[in-house]
Amino acid sequence: MLKDKVIILGVTGGIAAYKACEVVSTLKQLGAEVWVVMTESATKLVTPLTFRTLSTNPVITDLFSNELAGLNVPHIALTEKADLVMVVPATANIIGKAASGIADDPLSTMLLSSKAKKLFAPAMNTRMWNNSVVQENIKKLKDLGVQFIGPVEGNLACGWGMGKMAEPEEIVNRVIEILVPKLDFKGKRVLITAGGTREPLDPVRFIGNRSSGKMGFALAQAARTRGAKVTLISGPTHEPLPLDVELVKVETAAEMKAAVLERFKYADLLVMAAAVADYRPAKASPKKLKKVTERLQLLLERTEDILAAVKRLKTKKQKVVGFALETEDVLAGAAKKLKEKGLDLVVANDPSTFDGDLISGSILSKDGKPEHFSGLGKDQAAGIILDRIKGI
Ligand code: CTP
Repeated sequence: MLKDKVIILGVTGGIAAYKACEVVSTLKQLGAEVWVVMTESATKLVTPLTFRTLSTNPVITDLFSNELAGLNVPHIALTEKADLVMVVPATANIIGKAASGIADDPLSTMLLSSKAKKLFAPAMNTRMWNNSVVQENIKKLKDLGVQFIGPVEGNLACGWGMGKMAEPEEIVNRVIEILVPKLDFKGKRVLITAGGTREPLDPVRFIGNRSSGKMGFALAQAARTRGAKVTLISGPTHEPLPLDVELVKVETAAEMKAAVLERFKYADLLVMAAAVADYRPAKASPKKLKKVTERLQLLLERTEDILAAVKRLKTKKQKVVGFALETEDVLAGAAKKLKEKGLDLVVANDPSTFDGDLISGSILSKDGKPEHFSGLGKDQAAGIILDRIKGI
């Protein structure tokens, strides 16, 4: 499957380095040419000999090593022929170096000099992962088109927490997706909504919700990778825009409705992943509300249901997918929305995973049993949802 593909696989000094052995071994079995580059710390955890044996290529630990005598300017020669540069595991340190353009060892130098696609599989302590500096570095790299897989929650060297590396099998699946993309959405026009809406109370305040927009953005990325022409209609979010996806920014439910209805007639598929406000202040004050009274009562009015409006326009050829957020009787509630909103598919998501990196939930369609998934990265869930959409 990966014949003729050249992969540079960087290993950095995280305890998950031993799992990179399985990744290298599987990539080799799939036919890829793999060159392993190790940081000095990584060599303290796994020996270069292990990777040399698995990859059947010299392991790069030093840019001036005799091992690479056959290659003229090795880091350039290798990166020029690479289809993918991946880092497994990726520590906070290598993420920081890559985001800052630092090139002080073979791996950071290759990351900087390569124009190939890039994939990082982070693994680190929970507090390091949550550090805003690390998150900003990741955002910077994502903005540049670098892909990330994981981390997930699990047992770390320092106890239970967020920061465990994605499993080798998932990493290999992602490599296949990147290098041999399925183009089963080629030519399809896909409209996706994401994030939460904001309903103004006055010029500075609004009623909103905790939606991060991550699920909608992951769906947009996955649909684009699979060949679709994607338009993303999003409420305010901090998510980086996937490459080659059109973005329409909106704030209120009314703006989102107008944006969806304007484009729906041209779409083959609409996925409403947005958390749309059901109520808005009946009257937004043009001036900032002053704190005058002891109590302040807000009068709210219903917003229009976008999917109800879409249902009236939908043709037989178009597919519409909704999300359902339920805190009780999840499956019954989602099944009701599937029917009443005239959906082809509904994804019932667990409110506890509403604004996080992972998602648990169930996919329901008119004909077929619910498919449950738990604790998946939103990228992985996006792939599964698209697979199900293909099947309806
Ligand atoms: N939705 C919509 N327009 C709205 C509210 C929600 O199109 N004004 C869409 C959402 O994008 C989602 C689906 O309807 O795809 C279900 O949203 P959800 O919030 O779970 O349910 P509601 O329809 O708002 O009903 P309730 O909040 O009463 O459960």
